[in-house]
Amino acid sequence: MKIDNVDLKDLDEIYDLERRTFKKDAFSKKLILNLIVKNTFFFKLVDGESQNNIVGFIIIIQDREDRVNLVNFLIEKKHQKKGCATYLLNFTISKIKQLDKIKSIVLNVNSKNEVAINLYQKLNFRIVQKIENYYRQKESAYLMVLNI
Ligand SMILES: CC(C)(COP(=O)(O)OP(=O)(O)OC[C@H]1O[C@@H](n2cnc3c(N)ncnc32)[C@H](O)[C@@H]1OP(=O)(O)O)[C@@H](O)C(=O)NCCC(=O)NCCS
Repeated sequence: MKIDNVDLKDLDEIYDLERRTFKKDAFSKKLILNLIVKNTFFFKLVDGESQNNIVGFIIIIQDREDRVNLVNFLIEKKHQKKGCATYLLNFTISKIKQLDKIKSIVLNVNSKNEVAINLYQKLNFRIVQKIENYYRQKESAYLMVLNI
């Protein structure tokens, strides 16, 4: 497995993964395109053994001078539970730590998404707030923070 920057030629493959994972809640293709073009952290995890196909990706935007926000993150179902997300997130955190100005990474996660919450807690993110009715289906979110 290797990690690389996402570029425009990955758009269709990324959007396909996004739709299969998040269904109605998927980011639009246009939004993903914008995120590729803009200066965000947009990394893909690639399976070198099977024709370089993308097994997951992570998108982080800078939403304040001193803060970044993890806005999208997934690993394809058949590659889950093998440490892929841990590997990709650790890599991304280490890249962000190289930016002197950035003091924290924040994210919102569905309060029912135990797998993701466990993963973030394992990497030292803390729950700082519960936000009711955050998602369209009125489900709540946790705001999680990692100070770096
Ligand atoms: C959340 C997600 C990215 C995790 O990917 P993954 O590659 O399977 O995660 P890893 O194999 O690195 O596991 C990381 C940790 O997650 C937790 N975890 C993984 N599978 C789990 C399970 N079935 N139950 C509970 N916790 C689990 C554990 O803490 C695990 O650490 P450990 O194996 O050292 O105990 C993946 O499940 C996914 O893409 N889900 C759908 C999209 C999504 O929910 N994205 C996050 C939005 S905020």
